[in-house]
Amino acid sequence: MSTARFLFQKFAKLLSAKGLYVAKSLNYKTATAPLPINLDYVRHATLGLCFQEIMTKQVPGNVAELGVYRGDFAKRLNLLFSDRKLYLFDTFTGFDNQDVAKEKASGFSAGDQNFADTSVEMVLRKMPFAHQCIVKQGFFPATAAGVDDTFCFVSLDADLYDPILEGLRFFYPRLSAGGYIFVHDFNNDQYKGAHQAVLEFCRAEGIGFTPLPDSGGTAVLSK
Ligand SMILES: C[S@@+](CC[C@H](N)C(=O)[O-])C[C@H]1O[C@@H](n2cnc3c(N)ncnc32)[C@H](O)[C@@H]1O
Repeated sequence: MSTARFLFQKFAKLLSAKGLYVAKSLNYKTATAPLPINLDYVRHATLGLCFQEIMTKQVPGNVAELGVYRGDFAKRLNLLFSDRKLYLFDTFTGFDNQDVAKEKASGFSAGDQNFADTSVEMVLRKMPFAHQCIVKQGFFPATAAGVDDTFCFVSLDADLYDPILEGLRFFYPRLSAGGYIFVHDFNNDQYKGAHQAVLEFCRAEGIGFTPLPDSGGTAVLSK
């Protein structure tokens, strides 16, 4: 075994003890936009590949995220889909009490994470193409009223059962053929409502999904 391979294996073993795995990236494929340094290669690389499919097939529609918080994933969406509108759905004050009550009653999660330390202004300042953003501030699904659009890509990252199920009900019928929906936390045991919402929706509609081994346990729905 070469010294380099020996050292690599030692390093990989140390990282795996911390739950971090070293895997070869898609370095044989030319990326449209190089990946940012982040702690979720699988999620970002999958988004990049879905983006390429959407562009190659010229899938029509705009982009949306439900659950924006401080805009970290939305920033990437805005950078990649620079020629599309980006809807940003969030209370920008954290979880809504009625969603949290349902979470607790159903035993899905404690719903006690605080996502209030953000603002619309802070999020928009991060966006490379802020003129493409349409902010929908407030309680979802109420904020979806009057949104008459189609979508090529949607990120559902609202953590809780009710908004995720409502998000699937609203966005899936409006998803273009060839489009994708990422549902974050599908395999996150801290947010069991996300799992339940995807299973219920997909069973009712007779559609499939692909679970990703990214750090949030995303489920990918496509059409
Ligand atoms: C995990 S954070 C989103 C993280 C974000 N995607 C990122 O890249 O960092 C979840 C967000 O969902 C929002 N949210 C949850 N339920 C909501 C609802 N019913 N209506 C609007 N926003 C909601 C919360 O306010 C919170 O900002």
